[in-house]
Amino acid sequence: MTDDDALRLTGGMPLGGTVKVRGSKNAVPKLMVAALLTGEPVVIHNVSQIFDTWLVSELLDTLGCATAQPADGQLRIEARDIHPAATRDLEYFHTRSRIPVLTCAPLLHRVGEAELWKPGGCSIGERPVDLHLEVLRAFGATSERTETGFKLTARAGGLRGAVVELKYPSVGATEQFLLGAVVATGDSELRNAAMEPEIIDLISMLQRMGALITVQPDRAIQVTGVSRLRGVSHTAIPDRLEAASWASLALATDGHITVSGVRQADLGTYLNVYRRAGGEFDFSSDGSEVTFRRERSMLRPLVIETDVHPGFMTDWQSPMITALTQAEGVTVLHETVHENRLGYSKALSALGAQMQIFTECLGRTRCRFGSRNHRHSAVVVGPTKLQGTTVQVPDLRAGFSYVLAALVAQGDSTVTGVSLLDRGYENFREKLLGVGVKLR
Ligand code: EPZ
Repeated sequence: MTDDDALRLTGGMPLGGTVKVRGSKNAVPKLMVAALLTGEPVVIHNVSQIFDTWLVSELLDTLGCATAQPADGQLRIEARDIHPAATRDLEYFHTRSRIPVLTCAPLLHRVGEAELWKPGGCSIGERPVDLHLEVLRAFGATSERTETGFKLTARAGGLRGAVVELKYPSVGATEQFLLGAVVATGDSELRNAAMEPEIIDLISMLQRMGALITVQPDRAIQVTGVSRLRGVSHTAIPDRLEAASWASLALATDGHITVSGVRQADLGTYLNVYRRAGGEFDFSSDGSEVTFRRERSMLRPLVIETDVHPGFMTDWQSPMITALTQAEGVTVLHETVHENRLGYSKALSALGAQMQIFTECLGRTRCRFGSRNHRHSAVVVGPTKLQGTTVQVPDLRAGFSYVLAALVAQGDSTVTGVSLLDRGYENFREKLLGVGVKLR
């Protein structure tokens, strides 16, 4: 670990200032992958300088694209002549992120073959790729087991339209479906699809490229394949996960944090929970800027269950629960999306929080983790005075919570492994300074 990888912070003070968020970490890399579907230039705007966009730029170059580095949040990709990547390159990319999995459908379309690796990324659960494989096989790709996953080959004539019903509305598998169906021959339908705003953003960009996609109200997506997609200039939606992280920091420290570059509609469920917890927010008239603050001096405890969109998203969970260590009473959490997302409870306990983890489903839904002994529910009793200490970041969203907890805690803390936060937070240290954090 380098010194760069540790933050030494002093907590216990209300924070205030302005933070600008740019394009969503969970949208931009997928928009970049979609550029593989056309030989014409694709320009994406509102791109932030974070690890995931750097990695996908590098991946696209390895596949033969010409990508121009983001400047002023702009990224230009031209995928005129692309080719499969070498095995050592595949290993490099697939062990670092889940995004490379999404190149399978475009590569099957453009070069007739692809490899589906079991991907890396945050350690928040097993995160299999069976649903991606199911989608790709339905498009007619044949699969052969390899040491690292599956080698896929498109049938002669390319991908063909298919009807697929997902057993769970997976974000990634829905994206894989879209990236294949738009260029497959004939009609396709995905049932039980994910409908996250990041997916709708991908659909919007594909539509501008010439795709024919209809979103039905019952979690179904219908696509009529087209023979050719064209280039596009598209602005990515703002990062609703990052916006909520800074909002939780304002709530926890009793500060005033303004987040600019946001879209209210993507934050609807979070804002309701924020207000119920005793927070308040004021939007600018055009809705692109919002100031988060506390309305009540003592926060209220809540019952929170994470879910697919439009539910309370899993990535909002750890910063909000960390803030609720300061609420008066018992908060109950049921995590239903990723089975291993409560690892941060150890660090919170080390700082003095009272948080207990359960394998039972402590919510109104009996989720798929309850019968499998996963530690996926939590009870937090507050308010507790947190005391500064040293903690090690285990994954991206939990990482923010560690920083948040350290900023609520009295005294000094050291948070190590903070480079993980570069995956999703652009200029993280500068933003902390911008809201008044004292970095030592
Ligand atoms: C995306 O991951 C996001 N990542 C995650 O954000 C986010 O938590 C998640 O969607 C849910 O909103 C990116 O967009 C890069 P899923 P993804 O497929 O697509 C199971 C962050 O911090 N599943 O909807 O991988 C899976 O194990 C990251 O920004 C299968 O069983 O999520 C999980 O339990 C973390 N088989 C559930 O579905 C599959 O083939 C949801 O996963 C695929 C998924």
